[in-house]
Amino acid sequence: MASTVRVSQTPPWVPVLKKQIDGHEKDQDYTAYALATLDKEGLPKVRYVIHRILTPASSILITTTDTRMAKPAHLAAHHTVEMAWWLSEPAIQFRITGQAYTIPSDESASDYDSKFGDVLSGLKAKGDEAEKGYWQKERKRLWTEAMSGHLRASFGRPPPGTSLSEVSDPSTWDESLPAESDDPETKKKIDNAYSHFALLAIRPTGFEQLELKATPNIRTQWTDKGEDWEERHVAP
Ligand SMILES: Cc1cc2nc3c(=O)[nH]c(=O)nc-3n(C[C@H](O)[C@H](O)[C@H](O)COP(=O)(O)O)c2cc1C
Repeated sequence: MASTVRVSQTPPWVPVLKKQIDGHEKDQDYTAYALATLDKEGLPKVRYVIHRILTPASSILITTTDTRMAKPAHLAAHHTVEMAWWLSEPAIQFRITGQAYTIPSDESASDYDSKFGDVLSGLKAKGDEAEKGYWQKERKRLWTEAMSGHLRASFGRPPPGTSLSEVSDPSTWDESLPAESDDPETKKKIDNAYSHFALLAIRPTGFEQLELKATPNIRTQWTDKGEDWEERHVAP
């Protein structure tokens, strides 16, 4: 039997997700999920990414990527994604369907403003999250606070997926990069790496929780119906 949950602000799956992951922000057993996108031919491609934040006003899930990876190209063609998120300690699987967008980062691009407008309307961003400034600030904050030096350096390396025969010797690659520097040479490296760093934003349209510790198992689904979310309790 389906029931409708009226939402003034927060979708009903938000407390369900937060209950499991809050307080575990630094633990990959809680932050890593498999994200499936569709390539240009419409074929599924899946890989793990790290959950970074759930935005407070619009309940958008944020992860990060290198603009030169396959994900941003996939999302330019198809916004539909699905995620499988397994939390082994509580024995819970979240399966989330959504619409995903790469947040534009190249402010010098002539279509930067119009692209941003399309992304924010696709995300149905609310409050200050409907403003470019929120995302620019969050990108900088995550670059500084959430990326390790090793991860920051990875954004300055040759394009991911390029044959090793076509790139510089890996032993010459920087192992680590600071978030900021006054040294002109290091600053150039940081600017180059940061130009490849992007936020990937996912607006969930369907959310399923499967609880395996309970006997019998419990499977609950929430589906976005516009103003409301439909809640269904189904056989596992
Ligand atoms: C535990 C784990 C976490 C990862 N986190 C991220 C991430 O947050 N963002 C990312 O772009 N790639 C991440 N990766 C690497 C991706 O799985 C993948 O190899 C890379 O993004 C290239 O995928 P693509 O070319 O399909 O975009 C992670 C891999 C693992 C195993």
